[in-house]
Amino acid sequence: MDKIKNKILQLSEIYFRQTSSKTKNARLAASVKSFDHQELKNIISCALEGWWTEGVWNEKFQEQIKDFLKVKYALTVNSGSSANLLSLMALASPSLKDRRIKAGDEVITAACAFPTTVNPILQIKAVPVFIDLELGTYVIRPEDLLRAISKRTKVVFLAHTLGNPFDLDQVRDICKKNRIWLIEDNCDALGSSFKGKATGSFADLSTLSFYPAHQITTAEGGAVVTNNQVLYKIVRSLRDWGRHCWCPTGKDNTCRRRYSWKLGKLPFGYDHKYIYSELGYNLKMTDLQSAIGVAQMKKLKIFIKKRKKNFSYLLKEMRQFEDYFILPKPAPYSDPCWFGFILTIRDKRIERNPLLKFLDKNNIGTRLLFAGNITRQPYFINHRPKYRTAGNLKNSDKITKDTFWIGLHPGLTPEMLKKTVKAFKNFLQSKKS
Ligand SMILES: Cc1ncc(COP(=O)(O)O)c(C=O)c1O
Repeated sequence: MDKIKNKILQLSEIYFRQTSSKTKNARLAASVKSFDHQELKNIISCALEGWWTEGVWNEKFQEQIKDFLKVKYALTVNSGSSANLLSLMALASPSLKDRRIKAGDEVITAACAFPTTVNPILQIKAVPVFIDLELGTYVIRPEDLLRAISKRTKVVFLAHTLGNPFDLDQVRDICKKNRIWLIEDNCDALGSSFKGKATGSFADLSTLSFYPAHQITTAEGGAVVTNNQVLYKIVRSLRDWGRHCWCPTGKDNTCRRRYSWKLGKLPFGYDHKYIYSELGYNLKMTDLQSAIGVAQMKKLKIFIKKRKKNFSYLLKEMRQFEDYFILPKPAPYSDPCWFGFILTIRDKRIERNPLLKFLDKNNIGTRLLFAGNITRQPYFINHRPKYRTAGNLKNSDKITKDTFWIGLHPGLTPEMLKKTVKAFKNFLQSKKS
């Protein structure tokens, strides 16, 4: 059987090599996944093993995440959005007693966000308190955060926008002094660091996304990481139907007292497998996805290097257009692993849509900074959630109108980036005449 398996794996490599040849005029997408035969071999091996649900591949993948971020606990989930949901839901667990976030409590977050950073706040009927981002870095200012705190603030939930880390020292300090939980939405920032330490390793809870656009991919996927054992246990329970039992998939009686628990108002000895201590979901990742993740993690350092190199190239070349655009700026003390190359139009002669359409015609993909000022989104208006803004959202509105980003993912070569810069030049020249 091993012989047949090896033959299949060899064939998958040949298949990949013969089908992955690069076409000269390929579209320069803002974000694509980078993979080779190793990802295919892993997922095929996993399929042939026939386990599929969380198993040995997942264990290995979680270990890799922990090693990379230098954190105690990592739990894979089926998306970054699920990771965000679980993180906030964990902080709403009754087991946290007076530290628990309840309906009506406040969560401070950025107005310019990805929707699923904000949505869990609305889902638990807490009140989002929106603060503005700084142009150029697109991170929050700690002084704005301080001003936003009220007696009801329980959580600060912030993303490292496009991989650029917010000031983790100051934000963490503010949270500690005020007994506020901190969640780092690290979905776009795997590989970024602040004062030499990996982002995602600072907060009470941090999240990752492995959707194809990100630094690594598992197709769909994400993770929650933490150094806090209590929070880890709550997140694991919430992820796994809310159960009290912590047996890995396919295992029984890890606690060695499966029929000796007395919890809630259940009869003594009720099967531990079916005792639920949290209001849970099922948001687990499959082993097939983890198998891809294992191959991707082995390439992460190369991916980071390429992203940083592409960022430096674009920054150097785009300097010539600084009169037209605010160029991206690493936040203080940070070494970002950028998700994209972000630009904000500063010249009134340029409008975003004609530029994006021009780039599109030239086969160059662009993206916006997610939802822009989220309070302007139709779903937000329709749901009419209770919310508060602290300070004005002037920059968030500017971002909504004038900001976009282009790709710098590892699949982009210097020739491709040159083509991007040339397209900008052509567009801007047409504006001059
Ligand atoms: C900052 C941020 N948070 C959360 C998410 C959600 O991740 P996912 O697409 O894996 O659900 C994204 C998606 O790109 C994101 O950019």
